Amino acid sequence: MNTLARYSDSFFGTMAAILSNTFILAMGALVLLAVIFYIIDVTQTTHTIRRNYPLIGRFRYFFEKLGEFFRQYFFAQDREELPFNRAQRSWVYRAAKNLDNTQAFGSTRDNDKEGHVLFVNAGFPVLEEEAQEIEPLIYGPYCRNPYSSSSIFNISGMSYGAISKPAVRALSQGAALAGCWMCTGEGALSKFHLEGGCDIVFQIGTAKYGVRDEHGHYSEAKLRAIADKPQVKMFELKLSQGAKPGKGGILPAVKVSAEIAEIRGIPEGQASISPNRHPDIANNRELLERINWLREITGKPVGIKFVLGDGSWLEDLLQAINEAGIEQAPDFFTLDSGDGGTGAAPMTLIDDVGLGIHEALPLLINKLDLYKLRERIRVITSGKLINPTDVAWALCVGADAVNNARGFMFSLGCIQALQCNKNTCPTGITTHDPKLQRGLVTEDKTERVANYQRNMVREVSMIAHSCGVEHPRKLSRRHARVVQSVNHSISLVEYYAPY
Ligand SMILES: Cc1cc2nc3c(=O)[nH]c(=O)nc-3n(C[C@H](O)[C@H](O)[C@H](O)COP(=O)(O)O)c2cc1C
Ligand code: SF4
Repeated sequence: MNTLARYSDSFFGTMAAILSNTFILAMGALVLLAVIFYIIDVTQTTHTIRRNYPLIGRFRYFFEKLGEFFRQYFFAQDREELPFNRAQRSWVYRAAKNLDNTQAFGSTRDNDKEGHVLFVNAGFPVLEEEAQEIEPLIYGPYCRNPYSSSSIFNISGMSYGAISKPAVRALSQGAALAGCWMCTGEGALSKFHLEGGCDIVFQIGTAKYGVRDEHGHYSEAKLRAIADKPQVKMFELKLSQGAKPGKGGILPAVKVSAEIAEIRGIPEGQASISPNRHPDIANNRELLERINWLREITGKPVGIKFVLGDGSWLEDLLQAINEAGIEQAPDFFTLDSGDGGTGAAPMTLIDDVGLGIHEALPLLINKLDLYKLRERIRVITSGKLINPTDVAWALCVGADAVNNARGFMFSLGCIQALQCNKNTCPTGITTHDPKLQRGLVTEDKTERVANYQRNMVREVSMIAHSCGVEHPRKLSRRHARVVQSVNHSISLVEYYAPY
């Protein structure tokens, strides 16, 4: 071997050694970094996905960021996805984190599309110093303990069982911080609902969980015990909900733990099937009798939740109320949209049964006006009203308050993975798997729930002030218009007159 060859061998040998050492060092550094990130992720308490999926969860944010750029060329646009598009969800996420929710450059919404709602700004908007607090409303003026609430945005029924313990706790504490009420859903009242100290609406579903005896009939003693709790302000008899009208819930045996069984008053480890309707209520006369019986026992306001389908049923009910006398009326109606959400329901019912809120709400308000019951029966409504313009629309049409379920789920960190009917919710909201629940840290999400509620009220108030009224309850149909075709909109007053 000549000198040059020897020199070149030793050069390449050294280079190879340097490169391989560098590679080993780089790999070592990468592994070390991965371990550090892993530890940071499992121990931090603010990001559910990173806590449940340490390290790989970080890629979600990276891909989300890249997605913003790629989507505009290849995939769904901001306003395309269902049930909630990215623009709607982003507003909630940002409101929940108390981040700036302003936008740059201009609207990405197609404002000329038929059905689009526009609010009409006043010549002279309300100054901040002229703005007023939202007036409280009385629910149940004829019962022993009427409820006074000024809240216009509240947490809709989601049962403990459909949603997890940390989710119920964060909602309860967030509602207390924000000053709104929380409906229990049909799964009865648990200590987790009470621990935040918020106002509670106790829902009675067709299986009467929490207020039933061993045969599934009402237990007066249990009703009185629930009503005795000062936090429980009202009772809501659920006739139907938008996602599954005419269908009772099924709680599979695996979900009927000792704790759930005790709270609901059912045998442990056995599937529990709710009837399609309240077996004790087959017509409007029986409905009014049951409402009055419940009101007498509990001493608190009693209302009904339903999704509107057959309009003649509603007319019959209002007629029956007028015949019985207004004291006998339900204290409130909770009107749900045909496209409401749930933990699990057949697609047929989810998709195609029950009127949507945009048709049902004006119809209900008009009928209440017609039967002169508008002042007597408060109207609460729900159904995809997750952004300020949705809530402002409902108030304009005539609702007294809005309930919301899925918006509050987004505030808890829901990423619309659509697995609520399995036990695999990646954000710990609709799963009973403790490993996945670990990611949902109550303290952090409590703040987000409260922020979402407060920012909602703030922006609905902003719309009200722009329309020239001092607070959101003063919004009326004359403050909004519906687009009919390009460059042509009409006032809600005119648009909803024939409903
Ligand atoms: C996970 C989940 C559980 C629910 N559980 C109940 C329930 O127990 N009782 C009820 O009346 N509605 C229940 N709902 C329906 C909501 O209360 C609400 O009526 C519906 O989702 C429409 O409102 P939203 O669009 O704000 O979600 C549930 C909804 C979800 C998403
Ligand atoms: S993340 Fe998915 S599974 Fe969990 S609550 Fe949201 S939609 Fe349901």
